[in-house]
Amino acid sequence: MTMFSSSNTFRAADLGCATGPNILLAVQNMIDAVKHSHELPEFQVFFNDQTSNDFNLLFTSLPPERRYFAAGVPGSFRSQLFPRASLHFVHSSYAIQILSTLPKEAVDKSSPAWNKGRIHYSNSAPEAVDAYEAQFAVDMKSFLEPRAEEIVHDGLMAFIVPGHPTGTPHSEAFFNKTLEILGSCLVDMANMGKISYEKVDLFNLPAYLASPHEMDAAVKQNGSFSVEIMEYLHQEKQQPEALASTKRAGFEGILKEHFGFGEEILGRLYHLVCKKFGQQSSTFLESPGDAMNLFVFLKRI
Ligand SMILES: C[S@@+](CC[C@H](N)C(=O)[O-])C[C@H]1O[C@@H](n2cnc3c(N)ncnc32)[C@H](O)[C@@H]1O
Repeated sequence: MTMFSSSNTFRAADLGCATGPNILLAVQNMIDAVKHSHELPEFQVFFNDQTSNDFNLLFTSLPPERRYFAAGVPGSFRSQLFPRASLHFVHSSYAIQILSTLPKEAVDKSSPAWNKGRIHYSNSAPEAVDAYEAQFAVDMKSFLEPRAEEIVHDGLMAFIVPGHPTGTPHSEAFFNKTLEILGSCLVDMANMGKISYEKVDLFNLPAYLASPHEMDAAVKQNGSFSVEIMEYLHQEKQQPEALASTKRAGFEGILKEHFGFGEEILGRLYHLVCKKFGQQSSTFLESPGDAMNLFVFLKRI
């Protein structure tokens, strides 16, 4: 109740919303939960993503019967997007793992962290892993600092990211295994002469899967939030086709930009990815494990 003492409007934001529809469900869940316990007359929901996001598509898919005021907020969530102490609840799903920039050492031929022949760090030299880890720590700082300004005292923030268990090698994380396969398919395409090896060497995905320990350290370092819940959410087994299509949806933009892929070659790549996922479905796809989706629930103190 202290959170609403100065306002009759519940203000929530979704950060890295893309174009729906997952987010619309998350927003409805959040409103239902608040309505269940408080008599609040009005809700306002801010949908944030980068300026390149298709906000028009998002706005046209908002349910006409919605009981909240909706607004788009363009720009990076690694800067302050809202006035001080104006938000009661912040939500974000599968966005915070995306790094603001690639660690430059990973694509620097003269650096021991050069990630030759790989598109991600999970099986790479320790220097490459360190470079990714360091970038994640910088990015968590620039994510939490603006939120500490924007969220009211006692306000809440919930986010979900793909994660990896504290103390286990990065290479054992399910999401990382899927990226290894995507990388090996790009090498296959270089072997077939479809793309150059050099382009593969210069391609690295700007994403980092943190452990609960790293998340906790970032929250403590920031000092403005208490950790209310930090736990893994169970993940059902995924079919190779479904998994390949989420990879396609997630990485199509960056692959097109880096390799200049058209639809035909992207289709070939995803055919390869799907085939390899299928070949491995009896091993890692069978038991993705619970340690895939890290749920973090924080309170502004
Ligand atoms: C994988 S999508 C997840 C979309 C949606 N949240 C969901 O759960 O379905 C990640 C989204 O985060 C956005 N994103 C990544 N970094 C961002 C940043 N610094 N600021 C705002 N949005 C960002 C991307 O543009 C993309 O739309």
